[in-house]
Amino acid sequence: MDIEPFALERWLADHEHGAAVNLGDSGVRPLEADRFDTDPGTLGYVVPTNGDPDLRERVADRYDRGADELLFTCGTQEANLLAVLATLDRESHAVCVTPTYQSLYSLPVAVADVTRVELDAPDWRLDPDAVADAVRPDTELIVLNNPNNPTGRIHPQGTVEALYDLAAAADAYLLSDEVYRPLAAPDERVEPVASMGPHGISTCGLSKGWGLPGLRFGWLAGPEEVVSDAWQWKDYTTISPSAFGQHVARQALDREGDLLAENREHVCRNRDLLDEFATEHGLDWHLPAGATGFLTVPDGFDSGEAFCRALVDEGVVVVPGETFDRPGYVRVGFGAERATLREGLDRMATVIGRGER
Ligand SMILES: Cc1ncc(COP(=O)(O)O)c(C=O)c1O
Repeated sequence: MDIEPFALERWLADHEHGAAVNLGDSGVRPLEADRFDTDPGTLGYVVPTNGDPDLRERVADRYDRGADELLFTCGTQEANLLAVLATLDRESHAVCVTPTYQSLYSLPVAVADVTRVELDAPDWRLDPDAVADAVRPDTELIVLNNPNNPTGRIHPQGTVEALYDLAAAADAYLLSDEVYRPLAAPDERVEPVASMGPHGISTCGLSKGWGLPGLRFGWLAGPEEVVSDAWQWKDYTTISPSAFGQHVARQALDREGDLLAENREHVCRNRDLLDEFATEHGLDWHLPAGATGFLTVPDGFDSGEAFCRALVDEGVVVVPGETFDRPGYVRVGFGAERATLREGLDRMATVIGRGER
């Protein structure tokens, strides 16, 4: 099995360590560990290895599913890997909506034959008819990220239902990575696909909405046959979720109302700041949910990468659109501390003023 290098992670690995201002992250500034009890008692494997049954039942309930239809994972990343391994093989075909977080495209490509369906700028609308055209008799999986990284676009309920119906008609699954859903305003949130019926698989985790990426805690929810296959793959990846992760996750889920409201307010205020900046500098973007904005490259720069390299020289890390196959854009994370975002935007203004050298 060959896997493409993860372009975004490689860019961050090269530039984020030691950067004065990091706006490369896609999440919310992380919460302090001392807001939680961090002593899980003994440090054994979590048993059963698919996660604590009571906690699984609680999380599964939000999808109208039972505990055996939910698997705890090390982050949403592992949930996506396991979902792909559980549903695809060399004989199968997947339809992936792009641009997207690279694992939602490159993992299917590593396993199966893939057709991409592109979101259209400037509003990154998804055309269900284009997905319908891409579906084949051997299609086993349709992959969506909602809200979408990098664009922040929320695909509305009707669009997601249309994709669910296409998956059902093809006797395939619709996998939706919903890790940014908790950052959307409650009245903007689309129903998780795992609640839509037997063809829906949702992945999520605490990294983004809760601001807890270092916990490495996520989950996969869906039909029992998929969850059970995913668990069998997990025996070879991480065996069980982390004991620390599950211990703190329980508390974070208990306090979900307060934590999500706090984080949402933070990203909404920061989004306003970035919106003002974009307007002032003539950069176009689709006002995003989540904590990443996909902005057009300023005049005077040849490409996203050229702009990002000039920013790196000024101590700021953002992500070139090239890592999403969209060289005319840059992805700016606005979930950072407000002072960090301000500092980054000030430096960005200096670089824009100077132009490409
Ligand atoms: C769409 C998407 N899915 C999954 C992940 C990874 O999430 P986690 O930290 O929960 O593994 C990211 C991280 O940026 C993401 O953007």
